[in-house]
Amino acid sequence: MEKLVDKLEREGMLSRSEFTELLAGRKQAGLAAYLFERARVVRHRIYRRDVYLRGLIEFSSYCRNDCFYCGLRKSNTAAERYRLSADEILECCAQGHALGFRTFVLQSGEDPYFTDERMADIVRAIRAAHPDCAITLSLGERAFESYRILFEAGAERYLLRHETANERHYQGLHPSDLSLRHRLDCLHELQEIGYQVGCGFMVGSPGQDLDCLLDDLFFIKEFKPQMVGIGPFIPHKDTPFAGEKPGEAGLTVFLLAILRLMEPGLLLPATTALGTIDPRGREAGILAGANVLMPNLSPVRVRAKYLLYDNKICTGDEAAECRICLEKRVRGVGYAVAVCRGDCAGFKPVRVPLTGENPSDPKEMEKYYVRPEIPEGRGLYLS
Ligand code: 5AD
Ligand code: FES
Repeated sequence: MEKLVDKLEREGMLSRSEFTELLAGRKQAGLAAYLFERARVVRHRIYRRDVYLRGLIEFSSYCRNDCFYCGLRKSNTAAERYRLSADEILECCAQGHALGFRTFVLQSGEDPYFTDERMADIVRAIRAAHPDCAITLSLGERAFESYRILFEAGAERYLLRHETANERHYQGLHPSDLSLRHRLDCLHELQEIGYQVGCGFMVGSPGQDLDCLLDDLFFIKEFKPQMVGIGPFIPHKDTPFAGEKPGEAGLTVFLLAILRLMEPGLLLPATTALGTIDPRGREAGILAGANVLMPNLSPVRVRAKYLLYDNKICTGDEAAECRICLEKRVRGVGYAVAVCRGDCAGFKPVRVPLTGENPSDPKEMEKYYVRPEIPEGRGLYLS
């Protein structure tokens, strides 16, 4: 079984039957430990022990869609809706910058209030206030022209999870006005415009079988995103999936390690959903090859209103508290939070290089990173 891990590391891919065998053997003694170790070796070669932070600003909980899994779906009348003003968003960024964040992720439901004009103004204002930071958008499906306007305004990255690369499964998760075809068109358009793009999927969402997971892995190999966000599905009490089983932390981290070996330069977040389903989930993710954390910078008064799923962690904490907590957690497993934009290794930005990109001169680097000396091989594994 370990030879499959070696082959994956060597060739960056396996056949469907080999992946099937590897996933079936997930609980065999020593296999996960070996896979995670190889994923860490590969990750250290490219990203050392750095963990990149992204400050997540959930600026609108309005959504015109009705995805069956999501607590923000429009049919959920129990959800309290809010929008942050441009000033409030800028205030979150200023706070985040002081705490060492150099990437801001603006995320919302699909809220028509935020027209291209309003969004572009916000992006330009953040750009002007923080020229050393990267701006990531996560606004769902929009028109090509809209993506282009926002890129011109200064956004460089876009997160749009594909949710599942399997047609039948996609229809099982969404109402019929949403299609996998359109989702993938959006992803390709973002890539064409020049964004660093993140796709991703939930682990253990209702109707997901092994075939769906293999479709996801093959899609990712072909699409070549800069980032892949995966986290366990967690039911939300006011959705049609309220009574469904949550996804497993163990399978999530196993897949993170597989992705690290498939595409060594990927940005892989240890997601909040992973930290919600297991209190040590994010640490386990980092030890399986994840290199990004996305703590919340939204004002505490709105935190508990942006609930995609039940029991979401950190909804009561100030940004500064989250920052300190993460620093401790990251250090605790032998890694270090890096104060930099944290671009994808090897990605050549299309736009003019801005100040604050990852330094390449080791001397310069010392100013950006604090790296504790902790030996290789410390492990934390989830079953
Ligand atoms: N459980 C886990 N993840 C979820 N998301 C939405 N709803 C849930 C849920 N119930 C994920 C989706 C979406 C991202 C923002 O959050 O994958 O793309
Ligand atoms: Fe808002 Fe799915 S419920 S995009």
